[in-house]
Amino acid sequence: MDYIAEIDRLRKEKNAVILAHYYQIPSIQDIADYIGDSLALARRAAETQADIILFAGVHFMAETAKILNPEKKVLLPDVEAGCSLASSCDASELAKMKDANPGYKVISYVNCSAQVKCLSDVICTSGNAVRIVESFPKEEKMLFVPDKNLGSYINRVTGRNMKLWPGSCEIHDILNAEKVLKMKLAKPEAKVIAHPECNPAVLEISDFVGSTAAMLDFISQDSSRVYIVATETGILHQMSKVAPNKEFIVVASDDECACNDCPHMKRNTIEKLYLCLRDETPEIVLSPDVIEKARKPIEAMLALS
Ligand code: 13P
Repeated sequence: MDYIAEIDRLRKEKNAVILAHYYQIPSIQDIADYIGDSLALARRAAETQADIILFAGVHFMAETAKILNPEKKVLLPDVEAGCSLASSCDASELAKMKDANPGYKVISYVNCSAQVKCLSDVICTSGNAVRIVESFPKEEKMLFVPDKNLGSYINRVTGRNMKLWPGSCEIHDILNAEKVLKMKLAKPEAKVIAHPECNPAVLEISDFVGSTAAMLDFISQDSSRVYIVATETGILHQMSKVAPNKEFIVVASDDECACNDCPHMKRNTIEKLYLCLRDETPEIVLSPDVIEKARKPIEAMLALS
């Protein structure tokens, strides 16, 4: 079976749009109607005229698309494609943290469940977190959930002192600064570029910190030829398209494994995309109440970015 041809036929027949994150496998990125970072994909989801949104990403991304399009069918090729950050933050625990910190605004990284979004004042992505945090007065008391690494990075950049939820991304958090320094010694001409979900030691020694889309922008405009890339491996596909003459070396987290392949993102395959579009399942279903409450902080984010 030619899955690519079948996916193409089905998406036309069903007026479906395929949104894919940069961490998807290359063949999925290549068949997508739009590829992007979390922010760009949320914007696309908000604007689409399609009847079906097939989200090639992880669960919280498809949920965000559903919240913005309650009347549309939103499909996720593998319903088990989760996120360690989202699962680190349970809504009932966040409710307790809010109770213990009255008067605090809750800024939630988009990598969280719809229920956590319901308890949030505003959502942010790594692409707009600085802008969102800076939209609050300097003296505002804020809780940042669930990524402590992104939160502490934003605190450092903005001079704020947000209280941080102790979550982290299982992929970015284990990338090792010592390893990055060794790679840098072996290739002194290389620039280190990192996603803000990396731990503070890695961010400290990076030449550039930004979202997946910001990293792509950076390497397309910067004059260096070699980059040490501290993020998930899927981004390399677009990097080598954007700058075919440059060299990108991914930071391996361990000698034995390619640990910076996100096991959730990589659950999606071309075959699963095909089956999902053919059978229109797994579908993201959320209650109208959750959709109504979770929509407000997402719309607040879109208005601010
Ligand atoms: P971006 O916002 O850079 O796409 O990051 C999404 C993400 O989940 C990183 O782990």
